[in-house]
Formats: sequence, structure tokens, C-alpha cells
Amino acid sequence: MRMILAFLSLATAIYGQQPEARIKIDTERTIGEVHPYMFGNFAEHLGRVIYGGIYEEGGPLSDAQGYRRDTMKAVQDLGVTILRWPGGNFVSGYNWKDGIGPKDQRPARPDYAWGGVETNRFGTDEFLQYCERLGVAPYICINAGLGSIEDARNWVEYCNGDRKTYWADLRRKNGREKPYGVKVWGLGNELDGSWQMGHKNAEDYAKFALEAGKAMRWNDASIKLIASGSSNFGADWIGWNRTVLEKTAGLIDYISLHTYIGNRENDFERFLAASQNIEHYIRVVQGQIEAVQSGQRNPRPIYIAYDEWNVWYRARGEGDGRLEEIYNYEDALAMGMFFNCFFRHADIVKMANLAQLVNGIAPIFTNKAGLFLQPIYFPIAEYGKQRGNMSLDLLVRSPTYSVDNRPPLKYLDVSGTYNVKEGVVYLNVLNRSEKMDIASRIDNVAGTLDGEVGVWEMNQADLKATHTFGDDKKLRPAVRTIAAAVDGNGLTYNFPKHSLTILRLRVK
Ligand code: AHR
Repeated sequence: MRMILAFLSLATAIYGQQPEARIKIDTERTIGEVHPYMFGNFAEHLGRVIYGGIYEEGGPLSDAQGYRRDTMKAVQDLGVTILRWPGGNFVSGYNWKDGIGPKDQRPARPDYAWGGVETNRFGTDEFLQYCERLGVAPYICINAGLGSIEDARNWVEYCNGDRKTYWADLRRKNGREKPYGVKVWGLGNELDGSWQMGHKNAEDYAKFALEAGKAMRWNDASIKLIASGSSNFGADWIGWNRTVLEKTAGLIDYISLHTYIGNRENDFERFLAASQNIEHYIRVVQGQIEAVQSGQRNPRPIYIAYDEWNVWYRARGEGDGRLEEIYNYEDALAMGMFFNCFFRHADIVKMANLAQLVNGIAPIFTNKAGLFLQPIYFPIAEYGKQRGNMSLDLLVRSPTYSVDNRPPLKYLDVSGTYNVKEGVVYLNVLNRSEKMDIASRIDNVAGTLDGEVGVWEMNQADLKATHTFGDDKKLRPAVRTIAAAVDGNGLTYNFPKHSLTILRLRVK
């Protein structure tokens, strides 16, 4: 009792009021590993993502192979672990065979997804060697729109074949002796959408995916397969996933989900309430996975690959520089919201790919002379340091708010992870109140909390502030170490309004 009173008076002394929120850490209550693939990315043939973004033959900033050196450095610092390619909508009209062999003999084709002309100068070998240079895992998405099962099967042979066979030999002839060993393959992109070339109903898609996956595995039994799940959440999104899961369970390793959000109403708190939808999608699909596996003795595990996610709502039309969103401070906070959702569901979300890497809806933005880092770059890089940690099942109490008729939502959006080896707990706290600082009591249950606390904080007055060339420093995080007053194995921390904070707490 005395302790409680001491704590209350201390907090009152500091903040003039009792802490309104409470976060309880128990490192023994874990959800699942934050899989390294949670920090995936995506590079589509679209606008200046590939050409001018990651690849610029003969450019002053490029190496002998044509890869932009400055972009490579920024990608490495971002902590990307797996890279999806070549689309996106683009892949549903893509013939991978156009993009191999001598570059000057490769055909130029109309890009039916995004307009313009695809020169095919960047193809399978250029992509896979780019991944090797970066040390990231490649993830190839097949053409399940206008493409064929045979093409998909042969693509695996080209990349992974180690015998003397036609497509493996062609790879050798093109200069690559050793198989690339591509482990992750997507069975098409957004086939549930009417905008997709070769859009299918769920039955037809599932049949294609099953046969394509089977044929691909006959070339390499070790590959992991991702079925195309919902990308739009209209009336029958649940039915699409149900059919796909029912037909492909036993074959696939992941089902994909896609979500883009935007602050269309210019309402900050509503914008950051999107976690309610995202977590709803995750929970529903997790239930559907359990349902198809129910009654089986030893089902093949299926996880969620959230393989397209981001803020995207401004640069959507023709003539917008092809999805070249200029991100602002509130968009950076949304990165925290997405990762908090994924971390809280780390038992089922085992991959997530930000869409996209450079220029088109991306954290890195180039021109011929250089690049700048968009505000969204910084939280992505920082959350990435938690890969491999155990996600924690935290108790969180916080003041709430409501959007429309939805259930109350906590102003403090929190996730936590534990690095067992280092004895460090990371608390990721997004304060999505536009007006209110929120003081929180943070209690620790297992082990003893140290007073030395690392603080990483994004906190800006102007929600709409942006970066540009030569001016990409102002929205960067502040990093400091504080000596917190630990009492009763806990401390009190004030989370400023509209801010994102990552606390690094040592537990001995
Ligand atoms: O990432 C941009 C586009 O968004 C992708 O091509 C498509 O899959 C999604 O609709």
C-alpha cells in the first residue's frame, strides 16, 4: 500500500497528475518470434522504382553493373531482409523470358499495368544478383494472370535447377553457373481484383495456384509458396480466402494480404485508427487458416505474408510521377502503427513487405544527382532492429477514443519485444492523440528493471512536414539515454502527443 502511495505521489509530482496509462511487461508472456521477413520490401517494374531507382545503366551514381550505389547503401541501412519482385500488377502481364539473355536482344514491350514501355534490361539475373549484392532473400512472384503453369515451372528451373536441363543450361549460358536457390515464390498478385490482368474467380484462381505450385515444386521441392489472398476488403473478401485456403492447404506456406491506408479526411486520429481494420483482417484470416487445418493430424503450417502495405492515397492518378508519394510526418507515425499490429500478431504474420523500395510509394527518393530519405524511412529502419526478438503479450491500459460505431480504441498503440540474449525489452509506443500527452506507468514482472533507458523518439509539431532533396534531416528521430527513476520495478514515462517512441529497457 505504502509503495502504491509512493508511486502515486512521485508520478503526481512529475506530471501533476496520476499516469493515465499502464503498460505491464512480462517477458515470460510471449506471442511469437518477430520473423526477420517482417522487414521485407517490394520492387515492382513501375515508374522509377527499377529504372532510375535501383538501376541506372551508365549513370554517374551507378556501378559497372548499373546498380545505383547510393540506393544500395540506403537499402542496406534500411535493414531490408527479403525483396519481392517483379510485381504487383505488372507481373500479371510479364513474360520472364523477355528479361534474360543478351540485353540488346531483349524485346521492349508495352507495360499494360502502368503504361510506358518495359525495356526488359532489368530481368531475372539482374534482380537475383542485386539481392545477392545486398544480402537480402529474393521473393519472386509468378504471373498467375496472363501467364501459364509451364512458364512458372520453367522459371523455377531457370533459377534453381542444378541438373543438365534446358532452362538451367540457359542460365549457365547467360553467365550464371551456380543455381540462385530462390526459396520464396508468390503464386500471383491480387488475382481477386478486377483491375488485374487475368483476374479470376476464387475457384479458378485456386485451381491455377494449386497446379502451378505443384509443377514448381517438381523442380525444387524446398521452395515456399505464397497464395494470393485478399487485396480488397469488399463484400466477399472472406469467401475468396476461404476458397483459396480450402483448395491449396497442404501446398502453400503463406497466404498474402495487402492494405494501403490514407488520411483522406485529414483527420489524424481516424487515420491512425486503421489498426482496427488491419487487426480484424489478420484475426479473420488466422481463424480461416485454423478452420481449414482443423481435424488434420499434422497440417502443413500456413502463415500470413502481408506482402504489400503502406500509406498510399495521394499519387494515384495518371501524370502523378507514377505513385511518387511525398511522405510527411504523420505517415511516419503510421509505420509504427503497422509494425505494432504485425508484432502483436507475430504468431501468424511471418512476412511483411513494405510497398515499395524506391521512388514509387517508397522511403527512398532519387533523382539523377542523388537521393533523400523520406520520413517513413526512420521508423522502418528502427523497428527492423527488433527482428528475431520475441514479441510480448503486454497488458496495456490507456485512455481511448472511438471512430464511427467501432469499439473504443486505445490512444496508446503499443507493442513490445524481448531480446532474450541481450536481456533487452523494446517498448514501441505510438501516441495517436493529436492533443494529449499521455503519462504511463510501466511495470515489469519478470526480472529487475534497470534505470538506464534508451529512448528513440519521433516527435514533431507539424504533422504535414516533409523532406526533399538537400533537406532530409529535420524529421529524423531524436535518440538519447535517460536515467529513469525506477521504483518498485517500474517507472513512469510521458508519451508526447502525436509521437512515436521506442524505449529500450534493460531487464536483469
Ligand atoms: O504497389 C502498387 C500496386 O498496388 C501493386 O502493383 C498492386 O499489387 C497493388 O494494387
